[in-house]
Amino acid sequence: MKNTAPRLLALSVLLAALGAQAAEMPRIVARDGRHALMVDGAPYLILGGQAHNSSNYPAALPKVWAALDDAHANTLEIPVAWEQVEPKEGSFDFGYVDTLVNEARRHDKRLVLLWFGTWKNTGPAYTPEWVKFDNARFPRMIDKDGKTSYCLSPFGAATLAADRKAFVALMEHIKRIDGERKTIIMVQVENEVGTYGVGRDYGKRSAAAFAQPVPAAVLARRKPPAGRPATGSWKEVYGDYADHYFHAWAIAGYIEEIAKAGRAVYDLPMFVNNALRDPLPEPALPWKSDFASGGPTHDVLGIYQAAAPHIDFAGPDIYMPESKKVDAILRQFQTRENALMVPEMGNGANYARYLYQIIGKGAIGVAPFGIDYAEYSNYPLGSKFTDKRMVEPFARIYAAFAPLQRQWAQWAFEGRTRGVAEGDDRAAQDVELQGWKATLSFREFQFGERAYLKDKSEYASGTEQPSGGVAIAQVGPDEFVLVGQQVRVKFSGLAANAGKPALFARVEEGRFDADGKWVMERNWNGDQTDYGLNLPATPTVLKVRMGSY
Ligand code: DGJ
Repeated sequence: MKNTAPRLLALSVLLAALGAQAAEMPRIVARDGRHALMVDGAPYLILGGQAHNSSNYPAALPKVWAALDDAHANTLEIPVAWEQVEPKEGSFDFGYVDTLVNEARRHDKRLVLLWFGTWKNTGPAYTPEWVKFDNARFPRMIDKDGKTSYCLSPFGAATLAADRKAFVALMEHIKRIDGERKTIIMVQVENEVGTYGVGRDYGKRSAAAFAQPVPAAVLARRKPPAGRPATGSWKEVYGDYADHYFHAWAIAGYIEEIAKAGRAVYDLPMFVNNALRDPLPEPALPWKSDFASGGPTHDVLGIYQAAAPHIDFAGPDIYMPESKKVDAILRQFQTRENALMVPEMGNGANYARYLYQIIGKGAIGVAPFGIDYAEYSNYPLGSKFTDKRMVEPFARIYAAFAPLQRQWAQWAFEGRTRGVAEGDDRAAQDVELQGWKATLSFREFQFGERAYLKDKSEYASGTEQPSGGVAIAQVGPDEFVLVGQQVRVKFSGLAANAGKPALFARVEEGRFDADGKWVMERNWNGDQTDYGLNLPATPTVLKVRMGSY
């Protein structure tokens, strides 16, 4: 008989070597107050789309992929529902997840899974029936008057144990089927948590916790309002803010238990999303039934960080189209401690220009909601259209970024990028760069200045609604890559260039190829540069070099 030992050894060495080549684990990294989502060992920009709420079934996926492909998206965000994976307690079925991962690979997409568990838009709709209707075992919150609320209590020990068990089973399954390839790059734990109409749980366990001293980790991140004691019970320290802060701490602690257990099995980045409160006024006022109490609103991000260290960040779901509000939201959710990622945004055309602002600000990703041909529209939150017309405004912009997505993510992590969207007031905006200022104006004709027009009420066609935006990366002392549409860009000197006449050295229009190499198509000069760089309605990529004398 032949000795097969050497061949078996060779095989095991080969397998070990292949194992060593398994893709690196995705993770969020921070440097100098900026963040990157590392995928396969390099910064990754999520050009995402989120599927509709009921598209989490194999039969629904073809209409999701069709829209995602049309959108030039690189990542799909899609739910995995507790009710679907554990319809009977203790017996799990991950068939849908298997199909999803296989099809994502075929469509060359990464996945962000959304765990719809105890809370989906604050309610229990996605819990299995054996949870939904068993109020004794899985208690709901109790309001001030002793009435039972719709919302499951974060103090339900059995609810937490059951949700955690299902989530851990999911993470184990993901590790089994995707531990090598890493098609799944992130997981959202629960969806838009908090409670409408009730500030906190008034049940027994909750009431006892509410009377306890505020934990030091919370005090360190959320100072008491002026004039209040530095330590004491929640009510003593936080006064009118106490219910919302306490409820945030309770929900965040519950989510922490789930995320911690899931990551112990398979350590993917995890995050939460937020049904926003009005971003203004600042500082925020106490909760008055005007938003979901206890969700990760901007004013309690510190409490979430204290209570849920296994959650990497909280992302804003943007369904407020006003530019002033979008500005405030992006500022509030991009901090040294909180990576900016927009897990949801309206899919109406009026939101498309914000992609430039979000990507330019160095977000790790963005995903309009309802990028899916399921013949469902959430108008007036999003588009009335459910076909290609809905996808198109985002697709054009994603197509421009797609070839440079990895390079852009790297530049963003290095702090080289800025982004602007046209404001509702249509006013010009300045962006300070190193040694240069870019002045961005909107509604201009491409030739000449507004002052030359006889009829000052005339505007360029296609600018009836705000749709302009530009993202700028400073790639050298005098060199910039611009991606934008419907905007005029003028550069003037700052610092060493201040007060000197500035000229365009080169304005190359082109694209990045599949290897990230710049391919010049033409050089703009003459009429095309005499009145600034007038980017047309079609998203355009320019490589610009400035000079002064
Ligand atoms: C925000 C939620 O997170 C989504 O799941 C969805 O319900 C939208 N609102 C509304 O379409």
